Amino acid sequence: MSKPSTIAIDGTVASGKSTIGALLAERLGYTYLDTGAMYRAVTWVALEQGINIADEEAITALAESVVINISRPTVDDGRQYTVYADGEDVTWEIRRPEVDANVSPVSAYPGVRRALTEQQRRMGRRGRIVMVGRDIGTVVLPEADLKIYLDATVEERAHRRHREILDRGEEADYEQVLASMRRRDRIDSQREAAPLRPAGDAVIIDTTGLSIAEVLAKVEELAQSPKSKVQSSNGRGRAVFRRLARSLLRLLFRLLTRLEVRGSENVPAGGPLLVAFNHLAHLDAPLVLAFLPRPAEGIALDDLYRVPITGQLLRLYGAIPVHRDQFDRQVIRRAQQVLAEGKVLALAPEARMSLSGALERARQGVAYLSLRSNAPILPVALTGTEKVYADWKRLRRPRLTLTFGQPITPPPPASTSQARRQQVADLTAEIMRRIADMLPPEYRGAYS
Ligand code: DC
Repeated sequence: MSKPSTIAIDGTVASGKSTIGALLAERLGYTYLDTGAMYRAVTWVALEQGINIADEEAITALAESVVINISRPTVDDGRQYTVYADGEDVTWEIRRPEVDANVSPVSAYPGVRRALTEQQRRMGRRGRIVMVGRDIGTVVLPEADLKIYLDATVEERAHRRHREILDRGEEADYEQVLASMRRRDRIDSQREAAPLRPAGDAVIIDTTGLSIAEVLAKVEELAQSPKSKVQSSNGRGRAVFRRLARSLLRLLFRLLTRLEVRGSENVPAGGPLLVAFNHLAHLDAPLVLAFLPRPAEGIALDDLYRVPITGQLLRLYGAIPVHRDQFDRQVIRRAQQVLAEGKVLALAPEARMSLSGALERARQGVAYLSLRSNAPILPVALTGTEKVYADWKRLRRPRLTLTFGQPITPPPPASTSQARRQQVADLTAEIMRRIADMLPPEYRGAYS
């Protein structure tokens, strides 16, 4: 059994990720890549060239053109690595306070992230690498063999940073360090593009009160265990959570609503399956997942990960996060992997909740996945979830229906790309028509 070859370490500012990442890479003899240094290098060059940090277009153009190289240390002066920007050694420059003050906005620009993420993936593909950052497990290397997320209380992290500054012989005020740490946490976790959060399958380690040696020991143990063990110990916890969540949800729906479930016999017992449901309310996915006769993987909008309890539940469930307007390659790859393993994937073709309560024009993701993976689609129709809260407020049990339709088999993919595009459009229309057929007329909306 092989050991993890790509290791992703993410975490908050001063959670210890760079220190741990570098030490782990050294122990394993792997390449170490601190992706924060790349965002810093872009920021430093921008400041040097007098580019306005608020000028997104100029900063993006810079990120696309500047050549950043990170190599083993070239000078023995305590550096972990050497950073070159357009051939110039900027290893220490990128640690200056001006860079600290400006790197968060730079790293929030989607174009900057796109440019740097592309380079990071290229390095990741070579394997035998420990990559450290904010979005490595979630965006850059979602297929990493081992994902670690380090965190500690903000006070502990501020103390560490404060001590580091004093050790360098500089002056610093603890309260100021704490305030700036809070500000950076906020920017990193609330930005639109690739916000900081643990991947669903990351091992989360709270380093508060732990020494570097203690954290390293934990991380090394994970990195030395066979790939499948790391994944399955994660997977076991998840399976237990899913079973519990399912039983509890079934009970709650039965107690608190008048639910009618129809067509369960239409759900194929094995093989890959795409479950496509109309989307009226937040409760739709929990309802479908609780009553679908087979366990399923889900796709959820990444915005939801920022909602307090919902976000934690999604993480525990291990849903695949997707950005509202970006059904991108990473998501498609993960979805295809789920289907290739013969599992079930549930998602809403409309990609968002209907505002009117009736069907809206669907996105083409489901049809596209079905044609690419040759996975049948199970159309599912829901009614009543949009009125649940209003009824509960009046102490009434809302009436819900959940109908599983007959599976749709995708046609074999056409030979030209134009014909394939037509197939995707036709199949999308077919899925929505089949959902509409199972709905009362007032729910059919765009597919009346
Ligand atoms: O880890 P660090 O302090 O060197 O990171 C510098 C900045 O870059 C920080 O504001 C977060 C950002 N960053 C990011 O957005 N994505 C990464 N993968 C790494 C760093």
